[in-house]
Amino acid sequence: MLKEKIRHDFDVEAIRKDFPALDQEVYGKKLIYFDNGATSQKPRSVIKTVEQYYLSDNANVHRGVHHLSQKATDLFEASRRIVQNAINAPEEETVIFTKGTTDSINLLAFSIGETLKTGDEVIISEMEHHSNIVPWQMMCERKGCILKVIPINDKGELIMSEYEQLLSDKTKLVAVTHVSNTLGTINPVEQIIEMAHKKGAWVMIDGAQSIQHMKIDVQAMGCDFYVFSGHKVFGPTGTGVMYGKKEILENLPPYQGGGDMIDKVTFEKTTYNVLPFKFEAGTPNIAGCIALGEAFNYLSGLDHNELAAYEEELLDYAEKQLLTIEGLRLIGTASKKISVASFVVDGIHPFDIGTLLDKQGIAVRTGHHCTQPLMDRFAIPGTVRASFAFYNTREEIDQFIIALKRSVNMLR
Ligand code: ALA
Repeated sequence: MLKEKIRHDFDVEAIRKDFPALDQEVYGKKLIYFDNGATSQKPRSVIKTVEQYYLSDNANVHRGVHHLSQKATDLFEASRRIVQNAINAPEEETVIFTKGTTDSINLLAFSIGETLKTGDEVIISEMEHHSNIVPWQMMCERKGCILKVIPINDKGELIMSEYEQLLSDKTKLVAVTHVSNTLGTINPVEQIIEMAHKKGAWVMIDGAQSIQHMKIDVQAMGCDFYVFSGHKVFGPTGTGVMYGKKEILENLPPYQGGGDMIDKVTFEKTTYNVLPFKFEAGTPNIAGCIALGEAFNYLSGLDHNELAAYEEELLDYAEKQLLTIEGLRLIGTASKKISVASFVVDGIHPFDIGTLLDKQGIAVRTGHHCTQPLMDRFAIPGTVRASFAFYNTREEIDQFIIALKRSVNMLR
């Protein structure tokens, strides 16, 4: 009854009008965009914000005494405060603008790495994206640290008893994803953080696939670091955030050297700027960061609970129909999931399905989804992944299922 009510009240057609890219044809067919895990479409207000910046506000930030530079700086710093509020960070200077999740994790892998010593341990999980594996491997190689991996069960859930076994006094950092990009699994991050903190370890949560699906409160979560990409939360590409607890960030060394991150430079010695600038070397993606703030403004006009309930319904609806296809197996059946349906079909390569779906106007992602160790765990080369956003509809899922059945029949 409640779900019926939510569906009735949720005006998806009105929301779709805010996203111009959804209204187009591909190969003469209406576009059905189910690749939201890779990147989200942008609301008109975000696109206009980028345009407006270059039309009338373009100047460098934190550098000029002139009017335009001050205006750009004000917009840029206002956006930082919008992000601060959106994730409930306690101080604005704990929100560091980056190029994206990958950049945020590389920053942390370098800066945290500088504080570690030989034999220290870092824990990740079997479901991590390559961007939350490789930077830590590089850091471990550089510093002589040891990387440990939390295994998952057949449903695609972390095995928490194994995690408990991996934790020790040598654990200095746990870096895990909030939500799996491939499986959709929502991990029990509060429990993960609590267990790590008992051992005195820091925890970094990769929020690349969570912030667009749920309300994030970094203080309630208790994480030491939370990172995400702007483009997956309806903002521009080339933008991202690294949030960190102030007392930790103040004591970490900077990642990159350059303009704006300094206090004083001589040839003998450089002293560094205060937060957040210590971690923001060089001219940032000013227009993008301002527009990222606009993406959060847009989201603040929507009801998060309603969006989450609607997306859950879409997933439920899609998975039920997918399972009627002979030989189809869902990869990722965790009890708590966001709206990602990943699957394989016996005897058919995911790439072939993706190619035929594309010809019917349907955008999905196929392949290993930058999670090769996870593919090895399931002994598959890849999956077809349909990832839904709140602007997708049941009618699109119906079309997708028809197109998928047609594709599977052609390939059998
Ligand atoms: N990490 C993005 C995805 O899962 C690119 O597709």
